[in-house]
Amino acid sequence: MSDRVNLNNSLLLVPVGSLIVPAHPPAPSPILLSIAIPTYKESQNIETLVSKLCYLLDPVLRDRYELIIVDDDSPDRTWEIAQSLIPQYPQLRVMRRIEERGLSTAVVRGWQVARGFVFGAIDADLQHPPEILLQLWEEIKKGADLAVASRHIEEGGVSDWNIFRRILSRGAQILGLTILPGVVGRVSDPMSGYFLVKRDAIAGKPLDPIGYKILLEVIGRGDIRCCREVGYIFQERQEGESKVTAKQYLEYIQHLLRLRRSLWPVERFLRFIAVGATGLVVDLSLFYLLRTEWGLGLTRSAILSAEVAIINNFLWNDLWTYRDKSRPQKGWKKWFKRLLKFNAICLAGLILNVLLVNILYNLLHVNEYAAKLIAIAVVTFWNFWINLKLQWRTTEIG
Ligand code: GDD
Ligand code: MN
Repeated sequence: MSDRVNLNNSLLLVPVGSLIVPAHPPAPSPILLSIAIPTYKESQNIETLVSKLCYLLDPVLRDRYELIIVDDDSPDRTWEIAQSLIPQYPQLRVMRRIEERGLSTAVVRGWQVARGFVFGAIDADLQHPPEILLQLWEEIKKGADLAVASRHIEEGGVSDWNIFRRILSRGAQILGLTILPGVVGRVSDPMSGYFLVKRDAIAGKPLDPIGYKILLEVIGRGDIRCCREVGYIFQERQEGESKVTAKQYLEYIQHLLRLRRSLWPVERFLRFIAVGATGLVVDLSLFYLLRTEWGLGLTRSAILSAEVAIINNFLWNDLWTYRDKSRPQKGWKKWFKRLLKFNAICLAGLILNVLLVNILYNLLHVNEYAAKLIAIAVVTFWNFWINLKLQWRTTEIG
């Protein structure tokens, strides 16, 4: 019972640590849809919004939805006003953040305590017309992983924006398309802050948004297979004021660049290649020494020199290529585990290498050296990727 109704009207605890949404709700729950509403100085809008949302959702979902207001300690005490609405709207939950700030992180913090299996985000200032929510919900029910309210498809638009604002908005989108085409190009309105997404699509993914555009993060890091859009008219603000300043444009660019770096880790890959090159030098020179100076057998020399090269590569990669990921994994035990895993990955890479050369040469009749080159390229990439995903990944729970 207390799961459904917020009996004591208490504020939600603010999650701390990384911005990862858990795969399951904190406790088994009948809730289907959880909508996060970020607020900052929205005291004049909050009651209207909550009443409209409940009026719309009650007939469709009865008590199987929740509204999670995440307020950043607004000086107009939005959180307090929201809290006072709970007795009237039992689906409402309120979080007051003191230490953290920002629209996007507010949305994620809300989702972290959410109990539903579909998450939503909507602005509190009524610029996002609540009615559209039902259409978004329909799209999710039809199988979409992500349903976005868009200003840039049929039935969509902006109320009375001047030409300057339109150019700025479109400019930001074009900039996004050049920096991150794969993400920004996925939807017609990547700047939208009005959407629904399935928990499954983003659970376990470390979200790392800056500023306003949480949808970029959801598309970029989430596992979105089916995506649908619903047109809407971005309404004019009636009460309160927008918090957008030049800072948000800078943050947007920063966010795009950060996302690109982590989705296409070019710099990291180049480091990995450089380390690989040192490994090659170590491998060949040691092999030469063992053979000619110490007269060791061929197989022994090859294994020994390869192992030393693997250790060399591991040390550099751990200290340099994947530094950001290895540093939080403290202690020599974890270090040793990483070394063993690196060895295993290299061994698997070697097997893959031999297999590829054989397939290319024997089955596809590719020239021997070309076959070897292709195999090296594929295995290098494979090694890099597996190491990134398995080895130096940040495993953080809760
Ligand atoms: N918790 C929290 N913390 N909420 C915030 C913060 C913050 O730092 N800054 C803004 N908000 C809340 C506002 O109270 C409002 O509910 C919502 O986030 C949007 O903020 P606005 O300041 O009204 O921004 P806008 O109207 O320019 O908004 C938007 O642009 C897009 C379309 O261009 C974005 O907010 C998108 O959601 C929107 O679709
Ligand atoms: Mn607004």
